[in-house]
Amino acid sequence: MPLRGSNLCFGYLVQGSEHQGRSAALCAGGRAIPLPHHLGALRVLRGYLIHTQMSNARYTDLVLTLPATVPFVGPEAHMRVTGRPFRARLGANESVFGPSPKAVNALQAAAADVWMYGDSESHDLRAALAAHHGVAPENIIVGEGIDGLLGNLVRLMVGPGDAVVTSDGAYPTFNYHVAGFGGVLHKVPYRDDHEDPTALLERAEAVGAKLLYFCNPDNPMGSWHSARIVQRLIDAVPDGTLLVLDEAYIDAAPEGTAPPIDARDPRVIRMRTFSKLYGLAGLRMGYAIGAAPLIAMFDRIRNHFGIGRIAQAGALAALQDQAWLAKVHAEVQAARVMLAEIAADNGLHALPSATNFVTIDCGHDGDFARALVKGLMARNVFVRMPFVAPHDRCIRVTAGRPADLAVLAEVLPEALSELRNR
Ligand SMILES: Cc1ncc(COP(=O)(O)O)c(C=O)c1O
Repeated sequence: MPLRGSNLCFGYLVQGSEHQGRSAALCAGGRAIPLPHHLGALRVLRGYLIHTQMSNARYTDLVLTLPATVPFVGPEAHMRVTGRPFRARLGANESVFGPSPKAVNALQAAAADVWMYGDSESHDLRAALAAHHGVAPENIIVGEGIDGLLGNLVRLMVGPGDAVVTSDGAYPTFNYHVAGFGGVLHKVPYRDDHEDPTALLERAEAVGAKLLYFCNPDNPMGSWHSARIVQRLIDAVPDGTLLVLDEAYIDAAPEGTAPPIDARDPRVIRMRTFSKLYGLAGLRMGYAIGAAPLIAMFDRIRNHFGIGRIAQAGALAALQDQAWLAKVHAEVQAARVMLAEIAADNGLHALPSATNFVTIDCGHDGDFARALVKGLMARNVFVRMPFVAPHDRCIRVTAGRPADLAVLAEVLPEALSELRNR
């Protein structure tokens, strides 16, 4: 966007990567302009802060306190910076096995009708999801992935100063939404690389949390709790707290990980997605299952035409092809075994996983794992790692096809030997 007159843009580079530096420079018209004095309080710890001064733009006080960071830098953004494609895309826990061919056919068939808005009630998809889970359509809301639904849920429940509880190092997009609505996050440490239900409950009770976020199976550690423990957590949720049970990876988990769904239970909302084993991450389709009065509240704030016609058709066809899901599950299980072998061959230790990724303990500190991620990225293998200690001793690798894992097996020894010989 050309910058002129009252449309000035200031970039302030606090701790810049090459990519961040470029963006800041671009925004400042090729020159890094220091932040004006009166905005000094808005400095951020990571990345740069951009303030756009426009004659009519009067941002909320809350928004002006938010750091200009994104929860994740996407693989495309990395590739634009390096100018090189990834040889293996194993960082975002997408399903490299792809979607059901029947879903692809449905997407193609729906394309010609795309001039029409999608059904704002996603009637057919919600009916099919309801039948699949043995609940009523009133118990289902679909949204732009779990990420979109988390944003709407936080908007429904959390105002400035409201307490929210999560685990320290758990899924950051949830935290991003909480910050965006002025909520106060209380973080509980993991215990032995697992989320700690007892400590989460205690903290929720102590701070009067409106939301308690719990991910099962967990990202980023890949660990999981049994259905029995999750049900105990649901049963013990304090009055006035809603449990957000993020089950993004449930399709990759063993039997007995998800407690039975009781859609009348007002204490919990469960989040599911088509982005993982269904292989439709690019479609942006997720859904939540909850008590009908809670689900009805989403209608007050949701983007009613936000779920496109093609997305509804693709998700419906994917749901109807459970054989594909079972096939992908088997491939993910095989890939987890291969990843554990690759890790062991390189003196690393793969943690047990109930997800479509494997978290690999590198046996050193966060600096070592960060350098390893950098070394793998430099060799055009996209992986990520947990953000906080002690989990940041690990890297996190998506369950890939044999060809993807062969690339990892080829470059991992090189990246490690570079590090070990430093
Ligand atoms: C725990 C967890 N929840 C939600 C998501 C996002 O799901 P969606 O693509 O449906 O927004 C992810 C994606 O990586 C995830 O790891």
